[in-house]
Amino acid sequence: MNAIVIKGGKRLEGSVDISGAKNAALPILASTLLTSGTSVLTNVPRLEDVSTMIRLLEYMGAECRWHDSLIVDSTRLKNSEAPYELVKTMRASILVLGPLVARYGYARVSLPGGCAIGARPINLHLKALETLGARIELEHGYVTAHCDRLRGGEISFDTVTVTGTENILMAACLADGVTTIDNAAEEPEVVALAETLSRMGGRISGAGTRRIVVEGVPRLSPVASRIMPDRIEAGTMMVAAAITGGDVRIRGARQEHLGAVVTKLEEVGVKIEPEGDVLRVIGPERIGSADLRTHPFPGFPTDMQAQFMALMTISEGDSRISETVFENRFMHVNELQRMGADISIQSNTAHIRGVPHLSGAPVMATDLRASASLILAGLAARGETRVTRIYHLDRGYEQLERKLTDLGASVRRVSEE
Ligand code: EPZ
Repeated sequence: MNAIVIKGGKRLEGSVDISGAKNAALPILASTLLTSGTSVLTNVPRLEDVSTMIRLLEYMGAECRWHDSLIVDSTRLKNSEAPYELVKTMRASILVLGPLVARYGYARVSLPGGCAIGARPINLHLKALETLGARIELEHGYVTAHCDRLRGGEISFDTVTVTGTENILMAACLADGVTTIDNAAEEPEVVALAETLSRMGGRISGAGTRRIVVEGVPRLSPVASRIMPDRIEAGTMMVAAAITGGDVRIRGARQEHLGAVVTKLEEVGVKIEPEGDVLRVIGPERIGSADLRTHPFPGFPTDMQAQFMALMTISEGDSRISETVFENRFMHVNELQRMGADISIQSNTAHIRGVPHLSGAPVMATDLRASASLILAGLAARGETRVTRIYHLDRGYEQLERKLTDLGASVRRVSEE
């Protein structure tokens, strides 16, 4: 296993390019199952989760190859099954369910199971597919969906679900008739998927709002698609500039995707200056404290909660961070406490009392965003921080240590016996 070792105290300066968004690439890769032919995807990040999705598509018979772009030929699919061995490593594998049942009338996908941040059920995905006429069976740890042809229907999600919205959006494109999706997720990644599906021939309106309407079509065509920049990587880099009192230009970030993050960082004293498609982020001498509640887009993203908490550990004052989306997304707290952070948890709220500084320590990553949080804390801590189980980080950040090193940080990857 690998670890990342950080020597804290370096002020970050310079420019960094944001990679393509993991959470846009995964549904768009799954959408290639809806069509027969060759799709060309550019700006796809080279991440573990993307490799897992490629393995899944190849398991089904798609042919994938990297040039500068990622080329996916879904002409010769040979099965509609997503096996446990692949799905257990990446929950987002569930995104193949909707496309497979829409195109082939049958899908058998391993239940993803929970993960470090919560139970992560898929009941809303399944209920919505049943509304479109699929017969759903759960047995031996797999979900099986059958349907000769999906028919349009009226779906209303009890809870906003990003991949639930994406699964149904893809399935509805090939359903017979019109589907409405109420309480839909408004995340930019949902909009990016809808734009790609529209270019494939889908008839979609309302993406990016709580109500999406899809008029089914008989077939879709392959497409060329450029993956949008990763707003969570951009937010993570903004916190890296803030926590080190640095001055960093973030290239490729879209400000309209980062509204709640920009607002919250400005509230604690961070200066953020848009310069075309660059965001200049200047960290303050003194970091103020602020309260935060995570929410579905356009609210403050849960995927930025752990990173913002790292910043609040060295703020001047007290902060409260409430996690409203997932039930167990405070796994980074114990590790931040090992670095000297003063944090207590009551129910779904973390109370953070800012301390003058953190001290470097050996810590353990527990999930993707917790890994980023610990690295950010290490950038600001006195001394050396060693983050183990860094395979969590590699799922969702492309060359993070190189990007941080290029900004002046002392960060290196070491192999762990
Ligand atoms: C997506 O996960 C993202 N993953 C997550 O990013 C992100 O944290 C999450 O959306 C929220 O923004 C991808 O896009 C691949 P949800 P998803 O369905 O779709 C409950 C990262 O770090 N729920 O929006 O799985 C669920 O338990 C990852 O990049 C049900 O109860 O999240 C949660 O409490 C982590 N039943 C809430 O809804 C369902 O059928 C929101 O989950 C589905 C969800």
